[in-house]
Amino acid sequence: MTFGRVKPLDAILATAEKKSLHRSLGWFQLTLFGIGCVIGTGIFVLTAAGAQKAGPGLLLAFAIAGAICIVAALCYAEIAAMIPVAGSAYTYTYATMGELLAWTVGWALILEYAVAASAVSVGWSGYFTGTILNETLGIHLPAWLSSAPLALGGSPGGLINLPAVAIALLVTWLLMLGTTESARVNAVLVLIKVTALTAFIVLTLPSDQFDAARFNPFLPAGMFGGFGSGVGAVGAAATIFFAYVGFDAVSTAAEETKNPQRNVPIGLIGSLLFCTIFYMLVAAGAVGTIGGQPIMGPNGIPFPAGSEELARQCALPEFKEALVCSNEALAHVLRQIGFGTVGNFLGYAAFIALPSVILILLFGQTRIFFVMSRDGLLPEGLSKIHPKWKTPYVVTAITGAAVAFAAAFLPVGKLADIANAGTLYAFMMVAVAVMMLRKTAPNVERKFKTPLLWLIGPLTIAGTIFLFFNLPLDAMLVLPAWGAIGMVIYFAYGFRKSHLGRGVVEVVTDSPGETPGTH
Ligand code: ALA
Repeated sequence: MTFGRVKPLDAILATAEKKSLHRSLGWFQLTLFGIGCVIGTGIFVLTAAGAQKAGPGLLLAFAIAGAICIVAALCYAEIAAMIPVAGSAYTYTYATMGELLAWTVGWALILEYAVAASAVSVGWSGYFTGTILNETLGIHLPAWLSSAPLALGGSPGGLINLPAVAIALLVTWLLMLGTTESARVNAVLVLIKVTALTAFIVLTLPSDQFDAARFNPFLPAGMFGGFGSGVGAVGAAATIFFAYVGFDAVSTAAEETKNPQRNVPIGLIGSLLFCTIFYMLVAAGAVGTIGGQPIMGPNGIPFPAGSEELARQCALPEFKEALVCSNEALAHVLRQIGFGTVGNFLGYAAFIALPSVILILLFGQTRIFFVMSRDGLLPEGLSKIHPKWKTPYVVTAITGAAVAFAAAFLPVGKLADIANAGTLYAFMMVAVAVMMLRKTAPNVERKFKTPLLWLIGPLTIAGTIFLFFNLPLDAMLVLPAWGAIGMVIYFAYGFRKSHLGRGVVEVVTDSPGETPGTH
């Protein structure tokens, strides 16, 4: 029975021991690294989709999603400092709930990392087409080259999102060549992003055009939009959760951290708290200045974000300038209130900084595939290392091609929702694994212990399930459908080939390359 195939904790810990990377990171570098992974398409682009779902209640949505991420991060911190190996949620599940469930987590992480990389590519494309091509160079890229097809939620006349494909392939190419981002580059990019968002807040909140009346009605679509509707404040929280995805990358750097007991939780919670406050201020600035009421359908419910109906409405002159219709929400707000030049600078900031988020997500994905193939659950050929570049080039190329394909034909909101579905599942399993390990391995040293685990753990599980069931129905259904495909592959391949299943438990050195942005 595959449930019996639980990877011995000792072997995993020995792997971590053998790797024993130099512990050089402090809390400040970790927090910077966390912010570098987290701030991206979520705030720069999805603010529009969030407002279409919740209206001004978007502020609340950021708070709800942030709070759930913070409790999840507390669970992550314990297990990451205890079992500091690549593969994070997948490996933790392998050590507690066995191979079959570990496979489902690894499989769901593809949604978290690869699909999120597609979403960020599409978000980047919005700023590239709008700020760089349109505003700066005066080039108008036709809809058929810059958007997903209308039937899939793109713009009227859309066919393929070429800039998104180009950036996904470019980043893949850089990763194959072994490009890694230095901590210094990460710090500069964080500074650029934070400066852009600070400028946004400073120009919008005190602006003459800020009018508190725009927050009324605060919850035009209610708190709960209803099962599968994906609207209301909680529906928006489920989407905007994307803006926090990536903080778990901090946990993968736990093994390289000095005094992880103190620094890992500070890095995780610090970066999340920082982002939550910033996001709420940005949302307040956007809504307060140009308004953020959703475009309502005939039944008084907002048109679904990323739907054909909404795209048609957005093409009408009366909604052309609406926040909810913009592909580059924050730059658009600044232009609307008379700060066109700063708006363009914010666009340049997104243009420069978002590719690094794609790089980190793609890197995370290849690392997970690498560990899964090392365990025999995926073909070993995938983890082949290039003789010259020293990178797992096969898996990187395949992942990049898939990421580019999804970015070509799906809109950013749909991609983000799908990524969220997979991420929420993985976060839930991490919380379960932390609690199980407290029971099954009470004596293993924990460099960080989640405070009040028996409260925080169940809160994480409840929070992730709650957000999952507030995603739009189609995104929710992707998870079981994707899981079913995963099951077929597992029983056709991994079940027979699994090293553990064949009685091989090896202690290996870890995957090649260090996490970009940490050194
Ligand atoms: N949190 C990251 C972003 O918003 C994935 O782009």
